[in-house]
Amino acid sequence: MIVVFLGPPGSGKGTQAKGLSRQLGLVHISTGDLLREAVRKGTELGKRAREYMERGELVPDSLMIALIEEVMPQEGGFILDGFPRTVMQALALEEMLKKHGKELDKVVLFELPEGVVVDRLSGRLTCQGCGAVYHVKYNPPKEEGICDLCGSKLVQREDDKEEVVRRRYKVYKEQTQPLVEFYRGRNILTSLDAGQSLEEVSRRLLEVLKNGG
Ligand code: AP5
Repeated sequence: MIVVFLGPPGSGKGTQAKGLSRQLGLVHISTGDLLREAVRKGTELGKRAREYMERGELVPDSLMIALIEEVMPQEGGFILDGFPRTVMQALALEEMLKKHGKELDKVVLFELPEGVVVDRLSGRLTCQGCGAVYHVKYNPPKEEGICDLCGSKLVQREDDKEEVVRRRYKVYKEQTQPLVEFYRGRNILTSLDAGQSLEEVSRRLLEVLKNGG
């Protein structure tokens, strides 16, 4: 199964993709995680992407399409979390899949209003070691500031400051939201209310992916 998770920043795409990929045996491809790793390692991609990410803007399509071409698994299913984010990326994805005799099975839209996005992201904590995601209120670690899974330190992401979050949300509305109509037209889009509890969103997501709706 090949699935795209679409939705505004902080809508829970990464959290759900991490759990679901383990449950369903799908590879989780998060473009945000890949870019942050590239920035940390100081690779050519990281150097070029950094300033866009810090401003809360999208990294240019050409870089993102090349990245996906490089990491897309040849075999088995996967979840794309954070790609595509523009119509040009969506068209490139269709081409790539077609070249490998594959097609996209489902697009899940995580719907969440801006006020909740800010609340979610201002309390998000991310593990420096394994990338696991927590929330001070809604999903706290067992020991404050420490990752339950690998014991590394939890930090706040640079782009989770309120002004950058608002910019990211605006960019989402302008450049990524058009994909909702794009995928509705392909008849593979299902929306879910991402404002519900973590458990309820997971339950609904499994229902959508296993039974198709
Ligand atoms: P990226 O890392 O993809 O950021 P994003 O899409 O803005 O998504 P987030 O990671 O912020 O949120 P999420 O939906 O995964 O939510 P999470 O599960 O963490 O991209 C970062 C940057 O990279 C972009 O701004 C751009 O510059 C660049 N980039 C990446 N891909 C690109 C592309 N294709 N093209 C161009 N540029 C690209 O949850 C958030 C918080 O809420 C957590 O604390 C979590 O614990 C909590 N939470 C989750 N679910 C619930 C729930 N149901 N109830 C209560 N709390 C919850």
